[in-house]
Amino acid sequence: MKKLAEVYRGKAKTVYATEDPNFLILTFRNDTSSLDGRRVQKFERKGMINNKFNYFIMNKLADVGIPTQIVRLLSDHDVLVKKLAMIPVECVLRNIAAGCMVRRLGIEEGLVLNPPIFDLFLKNDVMHDPIINESYCITFGWASAHHLSRMKQLTYKVNDILSTIFDNAGFILVDFKLEFGLCNGEIVLGDEFSPDVSRVWDKKTLDNMDKDRFRKNLGDVIKAYESLAKRIGVKLD
Ligand code: C5P
Repeated sequence: MKKLAEVYRGKAKTVYATEDPNFLILTFRNDTSSLDGRRVQKFERKGMINNKFNYFIMNKLADVGIPTQIVRLLSDHDVLVKKLAMIPVECVLRNIAAGCMVRRLGIEEGLVLNPPIFDLFLKNDVMHDPIINESYCITFGWASAHHLSRMKQLTYKVNDILSTIFDNAGFILVDFKLEFGLCNGEIVLGDEFSPDVSRVWDKKTLDNMDKDRFRKNLGDVIKAYESLAKRIGVKLD
């Protein structure tokens, strides 16, 4: 499958058309961004690590029946995916309080959230991805009640599967963001799962193993991504 025209350039990935209108190629670049894309830095190997990380995780999820858009890995940076009609809403699952939730509510970072919290955000950079709820999605037509219910159900299932994978490797899955789309009327998991879109802490040291290393200027961003990938079983070379 060949890369044709660029369809969309995101902050860390570029989407290309292919000869077949039902398929796209996602290219994971080395760019890392924060502050709604106002701060960008390139890290050697990052695109390759996230591409293989995402492929590994999506396959684990597909193995337990979660529909994903992944078709096959094409190269270090490229993956072939099914084309989805993306829903403009981000699903965030939180097991532990961190990030914007701590800032918004003034609660203590590290608080165990039982049961885990499911948040929705509108994908809109200009408005800084505002927090929304089901009612907004329905009124403004961003997602139907039926589709939201499936997205929520799948997000909790992803949490069960991935919490176990990370726990077995000595990590805590703190929170993560998923994006879904529609393919032939079915809700399918799209976009990516990588340390760019999740928070993962080392169980013993509580070290950040994810993009918070970049956000908080902690250094060793790629060292952490690589160590996390290797310890959960992603083959990088
Ligand atoms: O910033 P916040 O605490 O809401 O982030 C929750 C989780 O969602 C984090 O793992 C973060 O990396 C991810 N996220 C994301 N893209 C966004 C917002 C959050 O991947 N636009």
